Amino acid sequence: MNIDPRPSVIEERLKNVKRIIAVTGWKGGIGKSVTACSLALLLAKKGFKTGLFDLDFAGASDHLILGAKGLFPKEEKGLEPPLLEGVKFMSVVFFSENKAVPLRGANVSDAIIELLAITQWGELDFLVLDMPPGINDAALDVMRFAKKAEVLAVTTPSLIARDVLERSLALYRTLKVPVLGVVENMARGTASKSAAARLRFDAGLEAALGSPSALLKTRFCRDLAAAVKTLEL
Ligand SMILES: Nc1ncnc2c1ncn2[C@@H]1O[C@H](COP(=O)(O)OP(=O)(O)O)[C@@H](O)[C@H]1O
Ligand SMILES: [Mg+2]
Repeated sequence: MNIDPRPSVIEERLKNVKRIIAVTGWKGGIGKSVTACSLALLLAKKGFKTGLFDLDFAGASDHLILGAKGLFPKEEKGLEPPLLEGVKFMSVVFFSENKAVPLRGANVSDAIIELLAITQWGELDFLVLDMPPGINDAALDVMRFAKKAEVLAVTTPSLIARDVLERSLALYRTLKVPVLGVVENMARGTASKSAAARLRFDAGLEAALGSPSALLKTRFCRDLAAAVKTLEL
């Protein structure tokens, strides 16, 4: 008998969220977080009700990319995410106070499930999830609990990243998690065939981190805006 009440609580919490986009990639440092943050900003700018949830316990970084200083969720029958540039923003960093969190796999998974169960997103058109690298217990649990999740897979032109990408896509097929598309980031040459979108390497991106308005003006964001059209988001 399954007496864990959280799956039904999470389902209830996510009931009014139309689409959940899980930005994944099995490697670190390939641009998952900049993609997730920029995607959330672009969708909000287009007038969609948008949420962003940074789920990377070991390397939470969306608060830095978006310059989220002094923000904290409000406790009101659960947790209400603060609003940042029109995006409802939630991060595991709110609960780790920026320290490394020495949690074991099961605990990370538990903490993420707990946060999914208590966060009040309200009505959203899109909830963007910035997923941790790889496919550990926590990542599998997110897919299991957030049943609506569609994967936006980030990769780079590197042979290694592409090989890892193919393996991840095979697993999503097995798990029957829909894949919205593949984004090839830090693209320099011609795009690989499997990529739905191509984000060029942008030397100006680093300087724009910490400022949503500067981020939206980067070539990286312009490339992503074109990708959003291709992916029909
Ligand atoms: N297209 C790009 N052009 C230039 N720098 C990039 C690009 N994509 C990512 N970066 C940089 O690479 C670093 C890692 O990106 P990040 O989004 O944190 O990766 P991940 O979340 O996959 O670990 C960041 O400093 C980011 O600014
Ligand atoms: Mg990241």
